[in-house]
Amino acid sequence: MGFWEFAYMTESSRNAVSVEGAQLIDGKAMAAQMTDDIRQQVEKLVEQGHELPGLAVVLVGNDPASEVYVKNKAIQTHRAGMKSFMHMMPESTSQEELLTLIDELNANPKVNGILVQLPLPAQIDPIVVTNAIKPEKDVDGLGEVNTGRLALGMKNGIVPCTPLGCLKLLQSVHKDMTGLHAVVVGASNLVGKPMAQLLLKENCTVSVAHIHTRNIEEITRQADILVVATGKAELVKANWVKPGATVIDVGITRLKTAEGKSRLVGDVDFEAVRHVAGYITPVPGGVGPMTIACLLHNTFQAARSEVNLSE
Ligand code: GUN
Repeated sequence: MGFWEFAYMTESSRNAVSVEGAQLIDGKAMAAQMTDDIRQQVEKLVEQGHELPGLAVVLVGNDPASEVYVKNKAIQTHRAGMKSFMHMMPESTSQEELLTLIDELNANPKVNGILVQLPLPAQIDPIVVTNAIKPEKDVDGLGEVNTGRLALGMKNGIVPCTPLGCLKLLQSVHKDMTGLHAVVVGASNLVGKPMAQLLLKENCTVSVAHIHTRNIEEITRQADILVVATGKAELVKANWVKPGATVIDVGITRLKTAEGKSRLVGDVDFEAVRHVAGYITPVPGGVGPMTIACLLHNTFQAARSEVNLSE
């Protein structure tokens, strides 16, 4: 069988397709299905006489990767039948100016979700900014209220999109994660910390490894579930991975090739690790599309909660 000619697997691994060695978890297909489902739910909401859900995305500066990400978010928001409001601000924007925009978006009834793309320029404190977003519009789930709700295991919080996407990918191949050893590599507020909370909620034994961790391969080799979010291209090698483990690769880096072209790679050395892992996500087509699908999910849920509150 050719590398990209996949045979669909059993019920328990519906989104996993066979790669040599590991089964590939197809985030692109799962995200497309989620977006379709959200679109149908949006149509129902509108048929009931409610406003279209709206998502505001704010980009400060001209980081090329962030420009691509926010453009994709807008395209997928339209695909899900929702309204997209884009706010592009110059690199020189002050924190006060950004907070003024957030106040306006918080007060705008057409906006159900607000996302400020990270990273922000050095003059702006990302924690001050994410905390300024009303918790019920914080569809990134990064503010202190939603972070606290996740840590307390409360059901009414909004969960950050990338870890939520990773969880859904894991759930597509693991019915029950109870007792599994999950190792998260990377301890960021955006991915590593909330991911660890979600895995704890799944009854995993959770380890968080990071840049200061000693003998990191010894820890990652114990993982039944390995989630890698470091931003270091192809950091995780085959000898870091326990045979049969499920590997979720959050990283995405554009590398220049010898022929002067470029290719996208993750934080995992895919070509080597696919011979060892049981399941693995590809880059691209794994976590990336699921992050956006979960953003649409969080925005739709925020809109629906508002409808329920007003009824
Ligand atoms: N930058 C990279 N990923 C994300 C994300 O999920 N949310 C925000 N706000 N910024 C990001």
